[in-house]
Amino acid sequence: MDLTLQDTHQMIQETAKAFADKELLPAAQKIDKEGVFPSEKVAKMAALGLMGMAVPEQYDGAGLDTLAYALAMEEISRGCASCGVIMSAHNSLVCDPIKLFGNADQRRRFLPPLATGRRIGCFALSEPGSGSDAAGMRTTAIRDGDHYVVNGTKNWITNGQEAQTCVLIAHTNPAERHRGISALVVDRLESPYGIGKVEDKFGIKGSSTTSLVFEDTRVPVANLLGQEGDGFKVAMVTLDGGRIGIAAQALGIARVAFEEALRYSRERSAFGKVIGDFGAIQEMLADMATDIEAARLLIWRAATAKDAGQKYGKFSAMAKLHASETAARVCHKALQIHGGYGYVKDYNAERHVRDARITEIYEGTSEIQRLVIARETLSEYAAMA
Ligand code: CAA
Repeated sequence: MDLTLQDTHQMIQETAKAFADKELLPAAQKIDKEGVFPSEKVAKMAALGLMGMAVPEQYDGAGLDTLAYALAMEEISRGCASCGVIMSAHNSLVCDPIKLFGNADQRRRFLPPLATGRRIGCFALSEPGSGSDAAGMRTTAIRDGDHYVVNGTKNWITNGQEAQTCVLIAHTNPAERHRGISALVVDRLESPYGIGKVEDKFGIKGSSTTSLVFEDTRVPVANLLGQEGDGFKVAMVTLDGGRIGIAAQALGIARVAFEEALRYSRERSAFGKVIGDFGAIQEMLADMATDIEAARLLIWRAATAKDAGQKYGKFSAMAKLHASETAARVCHKALQIHGGYGYVKDYNAERHVRDARITEIYEGTSEIQRLVIARETLSEYAAMA
């Protein structure tokens, strides 16, 4: 098996890395400190094609595959974790379901403004009372002539403040559990809704996380993705893909924390030699490097399975589980290597710990990833028996 990247993939990786080195790494600390959406960086990312990576060229996207997306996500997130999640939610959770489940009219209306970054997208699934139990949602979209009338509150919405295109998952038939759930594209200009609480977060502070408040919001029936009742499946398929993006985000965060710890270990001296010459530090560096390589292999496994049209939900859950826990472990050790300097804001180590933590929670907690992996593994076993 050859793991050498082909020319296109290599070019995308190099382009994203060069952009991150020049534009994101020098700005990431300021973005975190100010906690303001980095519009100028996002516009530059859009100009590079990073906001519509898998959108077909006919809809102004870059027409690339999942591996290309994962490579770019790793590099962008290495530069700035907030930019990583903005890009990930926009590409995986908004462009992808419209591309996969939208009809020709919906693709033509919604994809070009998203792919060119003229519009930002958000995905509204979780609610104040339902996160992991996605089917336990309460928001309703009840048909009234040519419209659905939406009522309810959505929580933890990445890009909630900036987005003008929202993929909304809601009950069109509340009497049914997941089979009564549908997916709608809500154009915020055409169907205004409220922005509720803007969260004050631990990390990824440059991306907004808000609640969305729907009060008799009228959404055209023409914006229904697929058929009524398809919404839970739309959400699950979307998250299967999204988890590859978050895994790559986690990998990027782990990598930058590792690179900085490595550099520090060659610069800082104690007891007459650089600390990187001590076995205790080398053990940490060895574990960090190994974890990072393993995470990358799992991400590439999931991405290539998706690109080959194979079943990949189990692999994307494994990639997300392992990469996010790797990021937490690596960032913890990177801070430890920096000693007291790791705990203050002069260095980036504490920011990486904060940014990494959310990757174990959003787009499915580690507990949900284990549940998905266990269910799939047990059903494979049952099929073999
Ligand atoms: N692909 C396609 N269909 C799927 C599927 C998948 N991956 N997973 C489940 N389904 C289908 C099942 O086949 C079943 O279909 P039938 O009724 O036809 O048999 C149906 O969906 C219901 O499946 P389950 O019985 O397995 O559903 P469940 O209620 O037990 O839940 C779950 C399954 C995996 C726990 C799911 O609820 C889940 O993934 N929860 C986590 C949600 C999540 O990740 N939320 C993150 C929100 S997004 C975010 O973080 C915001 C952000 O902006 C970053």
